[in-house]
Amino acid sequence: MNNLIKRIGVLTSGGDAPGMNAAVRGVVRTAAYYKIEAAAIFKGYQGLIDNDIKMMNPRSVNNIINKGGTILKSARCLEFHSPEGRKKAYETIVKNEIDALVVIGGDGSFTGAMIFQSEFDFPVIGIPGTIDNDIFGTSHTIGYDTALNTVIDAIDKIRDTAISHNRLFFVEVMGRDAGHIALNTGIGAGAEEILIPEENMGLKRLLESLSRSEKSGKSSSIVVIAEGDKTGKNVFQIAEYIEKNMPNYEVRVSVLGHMQRGGRPSCFDRVLASRMAVKAVESLVGDKTNFMVGLKEDEIILTPLDKAIKGKSSINKDLVRVSDILSL
Ligand code: F6P
Repeated sequence: MNNLIKRIGVLTSGGDAPGMNAAVRGVVRTAAYYKIEAAAIFKGYQGLIDNDIKMMNPRSVNNIINKGGTILKSARCLEFHSPEGRKKAYETIVKNEIDALVVIGGDGSFTGAMIFQSEFDFPVIGIPGTIDNDIFGTSHTIGYDTALNTVIDAIDKIRDTAISHNRLFFVEVMGRDAGHIALNTGIGAGAEEILIPEENMGLKRLLESLSRSEKSGKSSSIVVIAEGDKTGKNVFQIAEYIEKNMPNYEVRVSVLGHMQRGGRPSCFDRVLASRMAVKAVESLVGDKTNFMVGLKEDEIILTPLDKAIKGKSSINKDLVRVSDILSL
């Protein structure tokens, strides 16, 4: 056991994700279990710069495991990109006698943590929290499963109205540069086509595929488009192109947007967040720092933070094949 760590700081950074609260709860309670104090840092790295810090105890995190968002607030902090900003952050760390940092966020947040760690030789550990699931070293990030279910629920509803009006819907989902949300929800919701950044099918092939389905008797269809797809056109331009070339279809667009980041976390995300939080604190206690916790084949594992940042999360190509076969 590392007796030098007496106080851990915890923050949530980047885009919020359902399950972040469960992770915060897990960190605070595991710290208490090992007789370590926990300090909450608000608004991500901005809270470190502004000294926006509050001591927590196991009761401070009552009744949050079921809540979406993050009670710690989150931000993308530009000031932390500069050496001056990070120096201020380090002064806050020293002033508050924080011995190690748990960062719950995505790869941008981890990059900040890595730089901070190397500049000040300060122990950090990352917990992957983002709906995009775009982080190397874990099969699932916190919030991804909930977002999938939110999207499926939304597309099911869109399908009802699409069928009633014989319409073709283009549904844009989040994911930044990754197609995980689009690919999985597209299959789960029975989409006609799925456009993801990892596989550029091009507009011509999309048109051919939709025309084939129309000829085969489909009177309504759903196309799921990842926000980062590589057709070079946005969802409205794609819809316009198809509408022009398929005059029999009435076309509509639905951009699901930030509703995908909200809502009560699924059971999967709550359990994942809890397991990751326990592992994060236990790693610090065991003197293993500068890692990211992750999930692999139902085991919680550690990946060096620099590997997690540099590595590329990839889509499951078999899902592309499955989607092609089933959208007949
Ligand atoms: O990284 C999570 C995410 O929701 C992405 O899917 C999306 O591209 C981005 O954040 C949106 O960021 P913001 O909340 O700053 O608009």
